[in-house]
Amino acid sequence: MNACVITPMTANDLDWVCAEEACLHAHPWTRRNFEDALAAGNDAWVMHAGGEALAYAVVLRVLDEAHLLDIGVSLRAQGRGYGRQLLDWIAHFARDQGAVAFFLEVRVSNAIALALYERSGFSEIGRRRGYYPAVEGREDAIVMRRDL
Ligand SMILES: CC(C)(COP(=O)(O)OP(=O)(O)OC[C@H]1O[C@@H](n2cnc3c(N)ncnc32)[C@H](O)[C@@H]1OP(=O)(O)O)[C@@H](O)C(=O)NCCC(=O)NCCS
Repeated sequence: MNACVITPMTANDLDWVCAEEACLHAHPWTRRNFEDALAAGNDAWVMHAGGEALAYAVVLRVLDEAHLLDIGVSLRAQGRGYGRQLLDWIAHFARDQGAVAFFLEVRVSNAIALALYERSGFSEIGRRRGYYPAVEGREDAIVMRRDL
């Protein structure tokens, strides 16, 4: 894994972020979703290695909680530790900003993301029935939490 640099996401990143998002998710965020997230002042990050962008994430902080809203690693860079590194970095950043707990939701079928979150110290705290649109009907979300 190359050394990484993590920078705040800006409007200039959105062509790349939206293209990646469309590749990575069956139900991707729209450009408008990212624009709204940036306009709302959410924490949003792009990770670069060797001069190339390869991962991104969006986090909402409310009082002393951080909520992971979106994360993606380019297909060509997956399975090389970048997702975990970005998540750990976000956890440290949120803790430095006063957050004491980190929450997220993940599709029950997303085994790779579930493995990443469990390896990063998250535990299931509940389920939201039919939370996500799916190819056929709806799919449950697993709600996860970790201390910061
Ligand atoms: C989920 C995602 C962010 C993981 O990023 P990544 O850089 O590939 O993950 P890492 O290489 O850091 O691996 C972290 C852990 O995830 C798990 N993992 C990664 N790739 C895996 C694979 N192909 N099969 C099974 N588990 C895998 C492993 O537990 C791994 O930890 P380990 O190496 O210590 O065993 C990435 O696969 C992705 O962008 N997926 C599409 C978008 C998405 O699903 N986002 C999450 C929405 S909730």
